[in-house]
Amino acid sequence: MRRGLFLSLEGIDGSGKSTQLRHLVARLEAEAIPHLINREPGGSAVGGEIRKLLLDPHHHISPTAELLLYFANRAQNVDEQIRPALEQGKLVLSDRYTDSTLAYQGAARGLGVQLVQQLHTIACRGTEPELTLYLRVRPATSEERMQQQSKDRLEAEGARFHARVYEAYEQLAAQYPGRIVTVDGERDEAVIADDIWRLVAARWQRRDS
Ligand code: ADP
Ligand code: TYD
Repeated sequence: MRRGLFLSLEGIDGSGKSTQLRHLVARLEAEAIPHLINREPGGSAVGGEIRKLLLDPHHHISPTAELLLYFANRAQNVDEQIRPALEQGKLVLSDRYTDSTLAYQGAARGLGVQLVQQLHTIACRGTEPELTLYLRVRPATSEERMQQQSKDRLEAEGARFHARVYEAYEQLAAQYPGRIVTVDGERDEAVIADDIWRLVAARWQRRDS
């Protein structure tokens, strides 16, 4: 059987990832493309428990413990969800993956790229996205969009933290132009969804040819 296709979706909080994921899942279902949506933090029973720990605003988690929890979640999902789905030939879309850890823990928390990459090697063992869709919105846009919502532990970090996350994503996109495609997330929801679908469908078809 043909191996599957591994894609990831990235962006700052409030960039519209959840909204775009809904559009994409509807298209994948309409086209009967076998798929698995992986979500981090979360994405599995164990991941769901780790997610609760990570996002609870009452917890004070040390930066290193936070980093290890994100990777514990990822290691579980790689073994239990992502690898088996790829072996079954599915399209796997991960709502956040190691680029998030590079941006939030490596850059914004200041733990460094090298440490994140070492843990990535251990946790993911070569399971890498072929294409990463980076939904770019400016921090000011995200702040405006999220004003109405209650904030989880990471979202409650200040504007400087979120500016560092944004800058880190910009750097990653510049560093990996072959893998990361930047999608302008400031446009109308439906226009963005069409763009994302074009990119995903092209990759899926290329895999078939
Ligand atoms: P994320 O999952 O990246 O945090 P969401 O999809 O939850 O982002 O979107 C955050 C907020 O912004 C929601 O209120 C959503 O309705 C709104 N939103 C999403 N996409 C757009 C868009 N293209 N234009 C304007 N508002 C948007
Ligand atoms: P997410 O569920 O994408 O947030 P939401 O859907 O509410 O926008 O992610 C939760 C938070 O976890 C988000 O603020 C980003 C953060 N995060 C990290 O700090 N490091 C990581 O490795 C991952 C995967 C997420």
